[in-house]
Amino acid sequence: MISNLTKNKKLLSYVDEAVKLCRPLRVHWCDGSEEEYNHLCEELVKHGTFTELNEKLRPGCYLARSHASDVARVEDRTYICSEKQEDAGPTNNWTDPVEMKKKLKDMFSGCMEGRTMYVIPFSMGPLDSPIHKIGIEITDSGYVVVNMKIMTRMGKKVLDVLGDRTDFIPCMHSIGAPLKAGQKDVPWPCEPDPAKKYIVHFPDEPSIWSYGSGYGGNALLGKKCLALRLASVIARKEGWMAEHMLILSLTSPKDKKYYIAAAFPSACGKTNLAMMQPSLPGWKVKCLGDDIAWMRIGKGGKLYAINPETGFFGVAPGTSMNSNPNAMLSLTKNSIFTNVALTPEGDVWWEDMGVPPPAKAIDWEGKDWTPDCGRKAAHPNSRFTAPAIQCPVLDPDWEKPEGVPISAILVGGRRPSTIPLVNEAFNWEHGVFMGSSAGSETTTAALGKAGVMRRDPFAMLPFCGYHMGDYLAHWLSMAKRTDRANLPKVYFVNWFRKSAEGKWLWPGYGENSRVLKWICDRIEGDVKANPTAIGNLPRLEDFDTDGLNLCCNDMKQLLSVDVEGWKNELNDITQNYEKFGSKLPEALKKELEELKSRLENS
Ligand code: GTP
Ligand code: SPV
Ligand code: MN
Repeated sequence: MISNLTKNKKLLSYVDEAVKLCRPLRVHWCDGSEEEYNHLCEELVKHGTFTELNEKLRPGCYLARSHASDVARVEDRTYICSEKQEDAGPTNNWTDPVEMKKKLKDMFSGCMEGRTMYVIPFSMGPLDSPIHKIGIEITDSGYVVVNMKIMTRMGKKVLDVLGDRTDFIPCMHSIGAPLKAGQKDVPWPCEPDPAKKYIVHFPDEPSIWSYGSGYGGNALLGKKCLALRLASVIARKEGWMAEHMLILSLTSPKDKKYYIAAAFPSACGKTNLAMMQPSLPGWKVKCLGDDIAWMRIGKGGKLYAINPETGFFGVAPGTSMNSNPNAMLSLTKNSIFTNVALTPEGDVWWEDMGVPPPAKAIDWEGKDWTPDCGRKAAHPNSRFTAPAIQCPVLDPDWEKPEGVPISAILVGGRRPSTIPLVNEAFNWEHGVFMGSSAGSETTTAALGKAGVMRRDPFAMLPFCGYHMGDYLAHWLSMAKRTDRANLPKVYFVNWFRKSAEGKWLWPGYGENSRVLKWICDRIEGDVKANPTAIGNLPRLEDFDTDGLNLCCNDMKQLLSVDVEGWKNELNDITQNYEKFGSKLPEALKKELEELKSRLENS
């Protein structure tokens, strides 16, 4: 193999091996240029994968419709193939790595016949950051290439930084749809049988092999596979953290700036919080990242966070000028839409976009759609891919190589009952306990049933690349790496409480700034809190409800302890903890016992 972009021997032989195995028609090394991006988009249009949107309404934008079987992450087809099964732990699928590699090699054999193999050099993290990681994604999907161009630093500049280094992470991806001579192609080729899709991680190598899907986290391998599953393993070894978290900055009316990170499960509000428009006058939010945070102890012993990505792969439905204006403004141009509806004018539409539905449209499956047809126009997990630099509230420090110092960590989930709007941890261990016991209703971000309550520690259940018990121990160990006073305060938040009638109790979105304000007041020591059995809750008099149209009873319900509900909660947490066996840290057992006795005495 020769390439005019690199002389890196290990890389050239990796690509050679891949070519021998996958037998593509041709090989394309991605340089990451605008010309290359535009050319690939044109090719995707010719091929029928992309529809170009109206140049006046949505300049530089494209719509893709996936195969109906390929609309979300496939958690039950995701594997952590560590050498020892114990290292994958009870929350991950595991198969012996030798066996799995053999199986994958069989599947990948000839899998790119009739197709182009793209070689995508990419970096997670700014190239001048000491913790960037370089991956090489080999894929037969042009759609993946153009999405990776938006979501990561990609192309020649990455190879220049890589030079002769051998520490790149091999990321093999195929849609699993070889094209035989004379065979007619389809707009979204993939392996339609869910049981034949494989998203596999070999943390000991490390490497990634993904087969059969072209959608989101299954296929854009820098994101969940590298920056979370593999990075979490590396981070533990190296003493830092790879988390499913947004990063925002918040400036108070006194002009004090705070950096906050928040872990919510998939489709539970990270993108919305990351770029929210505060309803409270005088407060400003800026966005540094909406999905992944890499955090390490830095200057002065504080916890510093960087966003390894360069774009947003955000949930479309529900995104409106009302709920998330800054996301809407980020996707006005140069964006890719997947599985939303197409209007007759050549624009996009989705449910709760804040504009009336078009009289007719083409739905995400390519079928004619009218508002009364009884079907959704956009898939609930339809997404936009938008460059971060288009976000009107992007924080100027978002690419700082050393990151930004985090003052508070929020953990949350969708909990219609029991869990208060905001609850402050007593200390780091209690915060880790809160994160470890986080629960949420499942969403359409992953294939499977939505709306089922499950425990999702720190929103990392589908993304932790090793034993969850060891992961929680790693969280606890951060207290030994710095002065406790330097560690962020931890809060549990829940925007998703419902009334008996099934209505949201809390208005959410920009109104969440009221919760952030209380958190800042706590960081400053400006307000006291109400110490309860479950944590420190806001006193009603300290919580800013000015201009909020909420009845006092609702507010009380949002900020009080539901003792009976918490007793059930306790049972469920206890049951979930049993999974971790001897790997459950003693400190967390102690937290659980203490919570139990506090609840019994309340
Ligand atoms: P991933 O990209 O899958 O990791 O999701 P995410 O955590 O970034 O979730 P996102 O912000 O895209 O929100 C997902 C859904 O939750 C959207 O339909 C939002 O409208 C809804 N949502 C977000 N914030 C709030 C809130 O404060 N209140 C309510 N009721 N809904 C919210
Ligand atoms: C998530 O599911 O948490 C996402 C979307 O951010 S995906 O990239 O598909 O994983
Ligand atoms: Mn996510």
